[in-house]
Amino acid sequence: MIKTVYPGSFDPVTNGHLDIIERASRTFDAVVVAVVKNPSKDAMFSVGERVRLLRHVTAHLPNVTVDHFEGLLTDYMHQLKASVVIKGLRAISDFEYEFQMALMNRTLDSSIETLFMMTNNRFSYLSSSLVKEVARLGGPIDELVPAVVAEAVEIRLSRAKN
Ligand code: PNS
Repeated sequence: MIKTVYPGSFDPVTNGHLDIIERASRTFDAVVVAVVKNPSKDAMFSVGERVRLLRHVTAHLPNVTVDHFEGLLTDYMHQLKASVVIKGLRAISDFEYEFQMALMNRTLDSSIETLFMMTNNRFSYLSSSLVKEVARLGGPIDELVPAVVAEAVEIRLSRAKN
């Protein structure tokens, strides 16, 4: 059985992430979507909220679970007995950083493989940061994120204004 981990900030989950999760769930026996608190990023949602949104949008995928962790990805993988990291690649610009991370993770634990899935070209421009920026500036995000996420972003922004 091949257990994979798809790690990320997911602040919030976008249609691009969901596309990768759905395709990974068809390819591997088990997929753990793992939310990481990234201290260098300004978060809109808490880790608990991101987990809740991810659980909601992956509820139709029986072999997908959602979790969160702190610390090194390789330690977490070891704990889960998972051997493969899934990463989505959107554009060449992602490549350098992802390449660095994959090599660092391999240095930390040589038994772990990183597999890259090319994004669906419909989502190649999409990122959580851009979604938040568009929403903050009053643009529509309904085509970019699942409905429950668009609603959560709207509520968060309207609370921030009041
Ligand atoms: O969605 P993101 O923010 O691009 O995801 C980056 C993430 C969370 C996958 C990366 O920062 C990570 O793996 N963090 C865990 C801490 C760690 O293991 N750092 C060393 C990796 S080279």
